[in-house]
Amino acid sequence: MNLRERDREVRELMDDPACDPHLLAATLQRFDTVNRLISGWGRVYRTEVRPLLRRAGRSARVLDLGCGGGDVIARLARWAHADGLHAEWLGVDPDPRALPVARRRNTPGVSFRQADSATLRAEGERFDLVLSNHVLHHLDDTDLPAFAADSLALSRGMVLHADIERSHLAYALYAVGITPLAPGTFLRTDGLRSIRRSFRAGELAAVLPGPAWAVRRGVPFRLLAVGHPDA
Ligand SMILES: C[S@@+](CC[C@H](N)C(=O)[O-])C[C@H]1O[C@@H](n2cnc3c(N)ncnc32)[C@H](O)[C@@H]1O
Repeated sequence: MNLRERDREVRELMDDPACDPHLLAATLQRFDTVNRLISGWGRVYRTEVRPLLRRAGRSARVLDLGCGGGDVIARLARWAHADGLHAEWLGVDPDPRALPVARRRNTPGVSFRQADSATLRAEGERFDLVLSNHVLHHLDDTDLPAFAADSLALSRGMVLHADIERSHLAYALYAVGITPLAPGTFLRTDGLRSIRRSFRAGELAAVLPGPAWAVRRGVPFRLLAVGHPDA
C-alpha cells in the first residue's frame, strides 16, 4: 500500500446512500468501541474540553458536527457530568441514517438533530465549543475549507477537529487490530480507506492555516486541529 500521497479518490462504503442499512447501523453502533480505543478524546477532554467547560459556566453549549452514531458527544457529556460540569450537548449529522443510532444512546443532556454545518451557520447558531471526530478526511477539497469556516463561525470559544494521521504503521496496526470488531460491519474496509484518505500533520496545516488554526499531534496516529474564532 502506497501511503505517501493522500488518496482523495477512494470512497468509503458507508458514504454510499444505497449501502446495506443493517451493516451501516452496525458500523455506526460499533464506532463506539473503535473511538474509545483509538480516538484519544479522553486526553482532549482533560486538556481542552474540561477547562473550557469550567470557564464557560452552567450555560455552556457544545456541538458535535458530523456526530454519526453519537458516541463521542455522549461520552464527553458523561465525563463532564461525572466532573459536576453542566452543558447543553448537540450532535448533528446531515445523514438521516445516523440519527436513529445516535438517539438510541439516550444520554441525559444530549440531543441529536439532522443538519449540516452550513445549515446551523445560516440559522445563526453559536456554541462555546464546536468539535468533530473523523469528519475532515471524509470531505473533498471544496467541502473541507467550507466545513472549517462554518465551524469557526459557529463557535464563540474553541473548535476541535480530531482525525487520524496517515501512516504505514497506523494502516498495519488497524488491519490487524480491527479483526475481532469487523464482522457484520464496514469497519475493516472503511477504516483502511479512511487511513488512505487521512492527512499528515503538514498537509492538514496547509489546508487549515494559522493564525485561526493550529494542528497538533495528540496520542499516536492522531491529529487535532484546534481553531480559535477570534485569532
Ligand atoms: C466517518 S463519519 C464520523 C462519525 C462520527 N463523528 C464518529 O467519529 O464516529 C463522518 C460524518 O460526517 C458527516 N458530515 C459530512 N459533512 C458534514 C457537514 N458539512 N456538517 C456536518 N456533518 C457532516 C457525514 O454525514 C458522516 O456521518
